[in-house]
Amino acid sequence: FHYPMPANEPVLSYAPGSPERATLKKVLAELKKKQVDVPMYIGGRAVRTGNKVELNPPHEKAHVLGYFHMGEQKHVTQAIEAALKAKEAWANMPWEDRAHIFLKAADLIATKYRPYMNGTTMLGQSKNAYQAEIDSACELIDFLRYNVHYLSEIYKQQPASAPGVHNRTEWRPLEGFVLAVTPFNFTAIAGNLPTSAAMCGNVVVWKPADTQVYAAQMFMRIMKEAGLPDGVINLIYVDGQVLGDTCLSHPDFAGIHFTGSTKVFNNIWQTIGANLPVYKSYPRIVGETGGKDFVLVHKSADVDATVVALARGAFEYQGQKCSAASRAYIPGNIAEEVKRKLVAMVQTMKMGSVEDFSNFINAVIDERSFDKIKGYIEKVKKDKKATILTGGNCSKKEGYFVEPTIIETKDPKSLTMCEEIFGPVLTIYVYNADNFEGAMNLVDTTSPYALTGSIIAQDREAITLATSRLRNAAGNFYVNDKPTGAVVGQQPFGGARASGTNDKAGSMLNIYRWLSARTIKETF
Ligand code: NAD
Ligand code: ALA
Repeated sequence: FHYPMPANEPVLSYAPGSPERATLKKVLAELKKKQVDVPMYIGGRAVRTGNKVELNPPHEKAHVLGYFHMGEQKHVTQAIEAALKAKEAWANMPWEDRAHIFLKAADLIATKYRPYMNGTTMLGQSKNAYQAEIDSACELIDFLRYNVHYLSEIYKQQPASAPGVHNRTEWRPLEGFVLAVTPFNFTAIAGNLPTSAAMCGNVVVWKPADTQVYAAQMFMRIMKEAGLPDGVINLIYVDGQVLGDTCLSHPDFAGIHFTGSTKVFNNIWQTIGANLPVYKSYPRIVGETGGKDFVLVHKSADVDATVVALARGAFEYQGQKCSAASRAYIPGNIAEEVKRKLVAMVQTMKMGSVEDFSNFINAVIDERSFDKIKGYIEKVKKDKKATILTGGNCSKKEGYFVEPTIIETKDPKSLTMCEEIFGPVLTIYVYNADNFEGAMNLVDTTSPYALTGSIIAQDREAITLATSRLRNAAGNFYVNDKPTGAVVGQQPFGGARASGTNDKAGSMLNIYRWLSARTIKETF
């Protein structure tokens, strides 16, 4: 069975008067009225522990969408056991049958559950309709279809044979179970991490972020409807440390597919290192982690293009994309005009609930995140070393709202230029327009991360120079665009340095990591 390169799922507009907008509004009302009681799924069974955690929209924290059932150590053990029990039948299922389950799930989202995937992502993670559509509908559908395509390409790959010798490669799953640990900010990533490994014949224990459970469980239900056999993916909600303590010390632990912060990933890697003697095989370690993504503007840049790249790159989804622009280097010759136009544009961004489709900015994910972002802004206000050009107000009365904030600093190595804030905060540094070399040097040396970055320029030599000089500063490098919005199949996504193992989500490189090749030589 070979699945050809698919086309990307078209993005619906949700424009006023469109049928998709009417349907989505109806589903949002239905979801808000209903009280969900969300179980874990272990070995295909719905498991309710009675330890209930409220699900609240970050923009309307008093509203209760329902509850999910928090698990404990014994549920992690049960999930591992269920996965291992399902392993043999799943690994031996014909590839065509396995593939059709993931393709069916993609079709179910596209045609039947799209408003539910978008609705749960909008309410659970405070994403506006457009941001939800490009994530929990299009990107997730694309991951499922493109990964089936990549895997079918890999399965075709065979070594050469010779007279009297026949060689072949068996693309086997890993021995043991794979752990998928997923972040709050992208439903597509949460869906991709367990499914890309499972597609290869692996069995998976999947733990989403607590703040993403609402959409995660919706996706799990769709996978079940698509025919995923019991135990292939086991969805559990447990404390991260409890999860790590149990899974990472298990002899059958075969690998981790992680996306989240650098700090948590480092912790996981160290635990794996300490447990090496316990494992049957060296585990595969794949992690996409933090970022401090840059926009470098050249003196030849188009001002309006710069302003759009900065406004969208920094503030879409409240700056909570790992790829979000959070530090900008602006040349002196156009700095005043860029700042004036950028501030004016940002001040038109409406902030509020996702249910009002005219709101561009919604809430940040939770109180911990709100406090952290506010802490950075308060420090800037207190130190008086930098200027807040716009924004700076925060309120957690109704929900966790942080105004889109632009800081101008005279110190290119100040805290907000270096650290990942993960909120709607952009710091600008104005450099001498004739010292592009110095600006490139700052881009390369200011932060430990290397996830995404952009160069905005009309001068071809400047583009060529920056592309070459900044080769290690970003795994995804954009020319005359914002540094966000990678499309599956078009811009494989991932970074290096402290941003991860760069195994490029949405590419063949990622899929290889979930396969263990066996070479068979037969002489005759
Ligand atoms: P996080 O690191 O707080 O959590 C990620 C996941 O790890 C969650 O499921 C969490 O419960 C779990 N976890 C926490 N402690 C753990 C432990 N000790 N052992 C095992 N698991 C544990 O990240 P987040 O706040 O959900 O997401 C934001 C972060 O993710 C940002 O740093 C962002 O840059 C990064 N991110 C990176 C990419 C990428 O592709 N590079 C994509 C999305 C998000
Ligand atoms: N795919 C997401 C982006 O590029 C992470 O913004």
